[in-house]
Amino acid sequence: MKRVLIAMLAVVMMGLGGFAEAKLRKVAELDSPGRILKVALLLNHDGRLFYRVRRFGAPVLENSQLGLRFDHAKALDRNIKFIDANRSALAQTWELPWGESREVQNHYQALVANFSQARPEPQPALRFSVEFRVYDDGLGFRYLFPKQAGTPQLAIDSELTEFNIKPKAQAWWIPAGEWNRYEYLYNHTSLSELGQAHTPATFRTEQGLHLAIHEAALVDYASMWLRRTAGQRLRAQLAPGGITASVVRSLPFNTPWRTLQVADSAAKLYESSNLILNLNEPNKLGDVSWVKPAKYLGVWWSLHLDTETWSTGDKHGATTEKTKAVIDFAALHGFRGVLVEGWNKGWDGDWFANGWNFSFTQATPNFDIEALSRYGLAKGVHLVGHHETACAVSHYERQMEDAFALYQRLGIDQVKTGYVCDAGQIERQDRQGELVSREWHDGQWMSGHHLRVLEAAARHKIAINAHEPIKDTGLRRTYPNWLAREGARGMEYNAWGDPPNPPEHEANLFFTRMLSGPMDFTPGVLSLKGRGGQAILSTVAKQLALYVVLYSPIQMAADLPENYARYPKAFQFIKDVPVDWQQTRVLAGEIGDFVVIARQDRGSDNWYLGAVSDELGRTMSISLSFLDPSKRYVAQIYRDAEDAHFLRNPHAIVIEQKALTANDALAIRLAPGGGLAVRFVAL
Ligand code: NOJ
Ligand code: CA
Repeated sequence: MKRVLIAMLAVVMMGLGGFAEAKLRKVAELDSPGRILKVALLLNHDGRLFYRVRRFGAPVLENSQLGLRFDHAKALDRNIKFIDANRSALAQTWELPWGESREVQNHYQALVANFSQARPEPQPALRFSVEFRVYDDGLGFRYLFPKQAGTPQLAIDSELTEFNIKPKAQAWWIPAGEWNRYEYLYNHTSLSELGQAHTPATFRTEQGLHLAIHEAALVDYASMWLRRTAGQRLRAQLAPGGITASVVRSLPFNTPWRTLQVADSAAKLYESSNLILNLNEPNKLGDVSWVKPAKYLGVWWSLHLDTETWSTGDKHGATTEKTKAVIDFAALHGFRGVLVEGWNKGWDGDWFANGWNFSFTQATPNFDIEALSRYGLAKGVHLVGHHETACAVSHYERQMEDAFALYQRLGIDQVKTGYVCDAGQIERQDRQGELVSREWHDGQWMSGHHLRVLEAAARHKIAINAHEPIKDTGLRRTYPNWLAREGARGMEYNAWGDPPNPPEHEANLFFTRMLSGPMDFTPGVLSLKGRGGQAILSTVAKQLALYVVLYSPIQMAADLPENYARYPKAFQFIKDVPVDWQQTRVLAGEIGDFVVIARQDRGSDNWYLGAVSDELGRTMSISLSFLDPSKRYVAQIYRDAEDAHFLRNPHAIVIEQKALTANDALAIRLAPGGGLAVRFVAL
């Protein structure tokens, strides 16, 4: 009888998550400040380390393993011994020099748990710590390796770090480890169908909890991809190293923070992404008043339409004469920047394959860079520099200092960089120009490269906007000259993409890519036409709304000047909309469906509202209680006309004015594939 009972008990315990896990010993526990999230650290019978996360007592992450594997040292996969733990807490507010809000709250409880290997012989016992910071709407954790005798360096092959999501969930994700870097359309699948994904990856549980997994402060380390190993269990998969292990580091060092955002709604999920900034180090550059959020035009869309070329010849876009005309247009309409691509030597022939031909200090003969920068500055317009590397990255690093010095002398203080090649094909050379390895855009070596660029640029008071970048992990806090980046499918896919971006794309981006930070999406193509007249799947009002929805401290007005001249009324919103915000409120939204957001200008009492929809039309009523109740406003409304439709009638827009206050509600009607942009001018 007794034996039967024991057997039955064992079956019950197995049912509760496996016999081994039933034996887990809790070694430390930590609550968020408002006791919403709770994290526990646990060891099992053979010394494997796990953590788990609960929200209001309900499991979010079930036991998820922690640990790493090394090239030569013994893995941290078992025989781990708990030593002790220290707690701390912080409640602080800090300021962003530019951003989607001026102030950021940083309020967490922290725990550093110290461990060592229990049975390391014949090697010395490796000591390490796991640090957790737990907020009410998310958490971050990282591994710390203190200086220790016998282990000067570690080569990390892989992480065992897991995110074992308990409640059944759906996922929004793009594939990682594929040739097109981050430039994929978003998959919406059940979590159990995810393969290998980039972060941020976003999840919604059956109960409506919203989760996002990402990382913060990716410095001198390989990016974390998420690989599903079974069921809803995700494991950190490090981007490969070009030579050996994914990561090689001298001790002491710490890994980037692995992050989990947890929110009740999609709207709150976006707001919880301050986590990423909070987990980064404060500004290292000191006075950054030289970093200027601004809008820019360019010799750019024509290149993607293929009506002009980067290369020299009859169709060359970057000529002195054509650039002067764009500068004139920028000055007339109040734009600070003019980006000119194809200005330098090296574009002729197959530039994708000939990165080592690029000069970053020599303009083509028909581009008088000295005269043009003087001409622009006299009108308050700065040329925006362009450094396309085509992945000849060492070749670029050798010229970088001189290139930034040239730009600084010419008053060029923003530079767009580019890394066009397939993932895994970055060219890393030694000093003699011999190929050392092919690297990934998001591997350890490239994480170092981007910081070398930022530091060199900062020495010349230049800010950077990287295309085909490494993903954003909040380093703009530490290096405020990292203005924006691409790192997703941008507007260019509407010129030549097959397929172009579908109407749901921006509502996907907002709840995934945009959780990581600003994107140089380059909105505002009012002509709604790509290469050869291919239709852009958007209404005009939606193009305007993107300036408010998709945050960036630099925003391009991507269309040709002649197209803006054709649509002066809609263009007015692009001229008016600021790029630097006092505060941001997500008013409504669902992942991949729609977003309604309001942002207050940093430089005035004005507010701006942007709303975008997917392929469905929508109506809703939005309270204007975010406005200052003591003020009256004139709302300049740019809305889809009643018969607007992204396929059938995309240009139909109504522009009207209304007197409104904080007590009013705004009735919103978004056309299929449509949007809404409103400027609230405080009286
Ligand atoms: C890809 C970038 O995203 C695009 O904006 C740029 O025009 C080309 N590379 C050429 O550098
Ligand atoms: Ca690109």
